Amino acid sequence: MCGIIAVTGHANAAQTLMAGLRRLAYRGYDSAGVAVHDGESIARLRAAGALENLASLDPESLSGQCGIGHTRWATHGAPTAENAHPHLSADAAIAVVHNGIIENADALRAELQAEGMTFTSETDTEVLAQALSLAVSRGEALFEAVLALMPRVQGTYGLVALDRAAPDQLVAARLGSPVALGIGGGCRLVASDPAAMVGFADDVLHLDDGDVARLTPDSIAVRSLDTGERTIEATTLTAEVNDAGRDGHAHFMLKELCEQPEAIARTVSGRLDARFGTARLGGLNIQPRDLIAFRGVKLLGCGSAHIAAECGAHLIESLARLPASAEAAAEFRYRNPVIERDLLYVVISQSGETYDTLAACNEIKRKGGTVIGINNVIGSSLARAVDGGIYLHAGPEVSVASTKAWSAMVCALGLLALYLGRVHDLSPSAGASLVKGFEALPEWLEQTYALRPAIREVTPLLTQARSVFFIGRGNAAPVAREGALKLKEIAYIHAEAYPTSELKHGPLALIEPAVPTVVVLPDDELLDKSIASLAEIRARDGKLIVVTDSDDTRIDAAAEAVIRLPKSHAALTPIVLGMGLQLLAYETAVALGREIDRPRNLAKSVTVE
Ligand code: AGP
Repeated sequence: MCGIIAVTGHANAAQTLMAGLRRLAYRGYDSAGVAVHDGESIARLRAAGALENLASLDPESLSGQCGIGHTRWATHGAPTAENAHPHLSADAAIAVVHNGIIENADALRAELQAEGMTFTSETDTEVLAQALSLAVSRGEALFEAVLALMPRVQGTYGLVALDRAAPDQLVAARLGSPVALGIGGGCRLVASDPAAMVGFADDVLHLDDGDVARLTPDSIAVRSLDTGERTIEATTLTAEVNDAGRDGHAHFMLKELCEQPEAIARTVSGRLDARFGTARLGGLNIQPRDLIAFRGVKLLGCGSAHIAAECGAHLIESLARLPASAEAAAEFRYRNPVIERDLLYVVISQSGETYDTLAACNEIKRKGGTVIGINNVIGSSLARAVDGGIYLHAGPEVSVASTKAWSAMVCALGLLALYLGRVHDLSPSAGASLVKGFEALPEWLEQTYALRPAIREVTPLLTQARSVFFIGRGNAAPVAREGALKLKEIAYIHAEAYPTSELKHGPLALIEPAVPTVVVLPDDELLDKSIASLAEIRARDGKLIVVTDSDDTRIDAAAEAVIRLPKSHAALTPIVLGMGLQLLAYETAVALGREIDRPRNLAKSVTVE
């Protein structure tokens, strides 16, 4: 989604801005721009489409030491050069880049139009630039103008503004959209993602909601709208950079699929206690005597993280015998949820910046609940908001379609379920067997990846499909949902997921040869019942692709294609079968010639509602 980079005090600001924008590109964008102060005026370049389009305008020829840059993911207005950021006020005195959505933009625009101001774009951000220039033209300093404007703005923002009258100054503000400040040798930076500042900044400071900051090449001053002047402690910038390249892989998604075994090995590393058949999760910051008091677990996330939450709920109920349920974070936060003191809340997010997940977390905290996070990006907004948690350590995930991070989420939730289980009634031997399973998991995933050529052979059954059903039962039901999401997301094939048992309650009416069914079929106690459902689909001329770890020959007799994956531990089959579905979606999308890493209309990190 939108990304911000800004710098003051760097010999060639535009060079830094372009490097930062390239680092932010993986988040998804549809236009980009930079504005640089040359000491007298603000020069700006913007282009729709890929960053190369902006690069072809030769931004590095803009001389100046202070500037702002932005990658835009359209919300208000089409993805055109006119709507791209930075936005300049009509008098060219103020330039602004902004992430988020200004909900009362229309009302603010009307007020400014009444003052005689005119607008050139459809964006909410231009309203901010115009409002600030009006204040500055009346003698206010930009920092004070931002402080005065922000309480009148409804919605969310992470923003940086540049003032023609102050050539080396940046003013940044945050409400609901991440803003980090960087300290480098002789320069100060602002970015929506600290990774954009790697190589330029040594230390980082994170703004909180309501903070407004003024930066010059050698100073940072922060004022909170709520508490006034404040000091933020700087920490060493440790963000991982996403520009390591694809390491020879055709796509980042393939690279991340290939990295999956080592990513999972890192997720479990140092967290297994073979002696007591349990997990070591010091980051939870909850002692066993407090953990045992929780009567249930509520898991929240968006998209794939929500589906991982569903897998986690299954794992926790079956291993810890605690009631557990998953819900989409955006729905949870808007239903004025009852927060229970004896429920443990778990918020799950790869990026740690997903707006709705963060808002759900804050709602729980506001109401006094205990909330832990499952998160990949160290130091992200979510990681800083929770009471404790589990880092995935999956490494940077660039592809919009989540693969290794999804598997790592389910894995981390498995560790949590094991830990909770051993605090409750899970026997030491059952715990020890699962510990062994976690140890073997990277190897099972290695074997799954090796099946890629066989999985590729199945794709003709999907590339011709009008629509695809994904079905599964028990802990395979959410895995089927993830498989359908992945196919929609990158292959652009309509796919729907149902619990296998629900098929005959309606969807069966749509089964025909052009609508194949992908069956996620773990070798568990429901296997016989699921095999019976295969016959129901066959009887309607439906084509079956079965993804399974069972070697039951009845499956081969019923299915057009069988993707046979390694047999693992019962609790870990969602991860192994899930990876099989990720590979299936990937190969199908490749066969269709889709743009794998940046699917249309989607962003990696959804930082708006
Ligand atoms: C997954 O393939 C998706 N692109 C998407 O559903 C994603 O999982 C969701 O937006 C949540 O992201 P997060 O994990 O960073 O919070």
